[in-house]
Amino acid sequence: MNFAIFYFSATGITETISSHIAAILEREGNAVKLTNIITPESRQSQFDFSEFDACIFGFSVFGGRLPHVADDWMKSIDGKNLKCSMFFTYGARELELAHQVTYYLLTQANFQVVLSAEFIGKHSFSVAEGWSLAEDRPNQLDFDIAAEFALQSIKRFQTDIKFNIDLSEFTYKRKRIRETKGVFATFYPSRGKDDCSMCDLCEKECPVKAFDAISGETNRKLCIMCMRCVTICPDKVIHVGEASQFFENFVKQTGLTEDVVEQKRSKIIY
Ligand SMILES: Cc1cc2nc3c(=O)[nH]c(=O)nc-3n(C[C@H](O)[C@H](O)[C@H](O)COP(=O)(O)O)c2cc1C
Ligand code: SF4
Ligand code: SF4
Repeated sequence: MNFAIFYFSATGITETISSHIAAILEREGNAVKLTNIITPESRQSQFDFSEFDACIFGFSVFGGRLPHVADDWMKSIDGKNLKCSMFFTYGARELELAHQVTYYLLTQANFQVVLSAEFIGKHSFSVAEGWSLAEDRPNQLDFDIAAEFALQSIKRFQTDIKFNIDLSEFTYKRKRIRETKGVFATFYPSRGKDDCSMCDLCEKECPVKAFDAISGETNRKLCIMCMRCVTICPDKVIHVGEASQFFENFVKQTGLTEDVVEQKRSKIIY
């Protein structure tokens, strides 16, 4: 079969899981096209989904939902009744409405969603000094579940089983986007006074065109704090603030100690 995996990945976690799924699909004799929809340009491309026998969508979870640009992208595509499965990566806290929103939007976009899954990955904020959550994830167990998800997706693409997610309590509301204040503002990136080789990657790869390579600052009204610029800067000169006090409070509030995170499992939602 001919598959496509479309994923939104800022710090590379969803990309890593996508590549692993692709390797399993290929091992089973299928062709796979992988596309990261992180840049505005990639999301503006006209995709012809009828080229494929089925699709897999992978998204990172931001604030218990998807990044708003991923929502908008799903509203712009037409699956023409193609089967798909979907998965999410999250930093060990919660997925909240991620499955429901995505199931709803993909169904509205004329896809038949047949399977879902969730994988724990290193929390994007771990780029900050003093913040460390799920640093060693995905681990072998997570990859094993991703492999099983790939095999189960193939099975469901070949039969007519329907994936039923309970949407009885769900109404779609677009996430309100506003400039973040308080402790979360720690995570706005900046190059500060450092010199750099001006490769422009921070500007080109920002999913919302918020980063200005010349000034080295982000537009706080646009930035979604995805941590892509921090991760991909080859000179490693883009930084966020120190987060140890915030992290300490976060662990107190959520109970996410290292032991608790270690016990958290990725899973397939049948
Ligand atoms: C702005 C932002 C919000 C996030 N919100 C959540 C969340 O609500 N729950 C959670 O468990 N992880 C959350 N995370 C962590 C990411 O979901 C997780 O690290 C993910 O695997 C990153 O994948 P990526 O590198 O492919 O973008 C958040 C990360 C960012 C940057
Ligand atoms: S990605 Fe880094 S090195 Fe490249 S322009 Fe941006 S700050 Fe400079
Ligand atoms: S400026 Fe903000 S939105 Fe753009 S890549 Fe950096 S963290 Fe992500």
